[in-house]
Amino acid sequence: MIDAAIKILKETSSLLVITGAGISAESGVPTFRGKDGLWQNYRAEDLATPWAFERDPETVWRWYDWRRGIIKNAEPNKGHIAIKELEELYEKFFLITQNVDGLHERTGVKNMIEIHGNLWRVRCTRENKTFVLPDVPLKEIPPRCSCGALVRPDVVWFGESIPVELMNKAYSILESYETLIVAGTSGVVYPVASFPTFMKSKGGKVIEINLEKTPISSIADISIIGKTGDILPEVVEGLKKIF
Ligand code: APR
Repeated sequence: MIDAAIKILKETSSLLVITGAGISAESGVPTFRGKDGLWQNYRAEDLATPWAFERDPETVWRWYDWRRGIIKNAEPNKGHIAIKELEELYEKFFLITQNVDGLHERTGVKNMIEIHGNLWRVRCTRENKTFVLPDVPLKEIPPRCSCGALVRPDVVWFGESIPVELMNKAYSILESYETLIVAGTSGVVYPVASFPTFMKSKGGKVIEINLEKTPISSIADISIIGKTGDILPEVVEGLKKIF
């Protein structure tokens, strides 16, 4: 399977990588779905919707403060680092991550978008301006902007749309790239869940890496079952021998 993936990657001149929470699991950051996933113990409706924030910003922020604490102590893992190495191997490389943890950024990867936002960035609910709030734990919960209004995490919650400029960027990349690696996502949250189908429909190749089969597996050219922290470095090593 890995050899077949390397063969496709060797023949491609443009590589798009899409990641989900699974890529950060080996850094100790909890995923959302699956047996230890956050949505087993927490209700998304109470914590990750604009209505939950309106009703109870303190509870929402306590949950984000806890997650920010975990992520602050986490380091990018071998999977994140392998993706940065892929960027160095391809002239035309792009990463779209659904993760809000900022771990990809910490590897130095440049050509990327965080399509669901970033939990270190906050947005003023009055002025809409964004800024980084690095404090862990937060000094006050819920935190406020200098103008006095509440700030919210600058992430895309359920029931919200991805900013139009990020969607436009994602589709322009999908249209002009040949091969997609989709790593560590359950493939059930739209619109990103539709990107592999989009890639296939225009004749591109899709390689999936996940601990288990997902809805993407049946349309992928290659579906590798395993940890991203094991598989991605192997793929990079294989490619380095050829390039
Ligand atoms: N290696 C590879 N895959 C892994 C690993 C690992 N070490 N650990 C977990 N996985 C896989 C799981 O099998 C699962 O398919 O990662 C996937 C994680 O799925 P989700 O928790 O659903 O995460 P994601 O797909 O990123 O969720 C999408 O949902 O709740 C929202 O906004 C949140 O961005 C998130 C979106």
